[in-house]
Amino acid sequence: MKKGKIISFEGPDGAGKSTVLETLMPVLQQKYDGHVIMTREPGGVAIAEKIRHVILDVNHTSMDSKTELLLYAAARRQHLVEKILPELEKGNLVLIDRFIDSSVAYQGYGRGIAVSDVDWLNHYATDGIKPDLTLLFDVPSETGLARIQTNNEREVNRLDLEKLDMHQRVRQGYLSLASQEPKRIKIIDASQSLETVIKDTQTILETFLELS
Ligand code: TYD
Repeated sequence: MKKGKIISFEGPDGAGKSTVLETLMPVLQQKYDGHVIMTREPGGVAIAEKIRHVILDVNHTSMDSKTELLLYAAARRQHLVEKILPELEKGNLVLIDRFIDSSVAYQGYGRGIAVSDVDWLNHYATDGIKPDLTLLFDVPSETGLARIQTNNEREVNRLDLEKLDMHQRVRQGYLSLASQEPKRIKIIDASQSLETVIKDTQTILETFLELS
């Protein structure tokens, strides 16, 4: 039985979600007496981190889209079983930097794989578990890509190197997901200053956590 909660952080590359997550983590830890964990996809556990290396290697330019989708799903399954489910079982709050919606946005809308296939595979990998809340950090693709290029600390991965039109399809994919599931997916305007984005995120998180 699932007792804890999942909150996923989603958005196009360069939206700043990881920075916001890292900034808010200590605040949430204090508020929830340490019952909060932060993790990421692809990765989060050793086997899934190895799969991450294979997927994101900039030399793997010949990777087929379906291979890519299956690898994300494989990493997700291992992460779920080894880390997410045990944390939920303990009643903890699990914050994930990317989850099922990334596969729909990137492999579905971005790569052009049928969204119904991605949905099915996500369901297979997670046994139907979905986040209780998803924060979508939305930013115009040009702004996101410019941020990636000027951020020297961030390692550039294979998906970052995709052309502007792929990034635009990913963004549109996220926005249509948010319009289909407005109760679960909350949009944050990530083109604002980092300070404002952090404040907006905190407000949504606090409202959600007080109500639940
Ligand atoms: P990462 O360096 O973690 O990027 P970010 O900081 O933007 O989250 O790399 C993850 C990349 O993998 C990112 O470009 C999005 C992509 N991705 C997918 O295409 N499908 C997925 O299912 C997931 C989880 C990530």
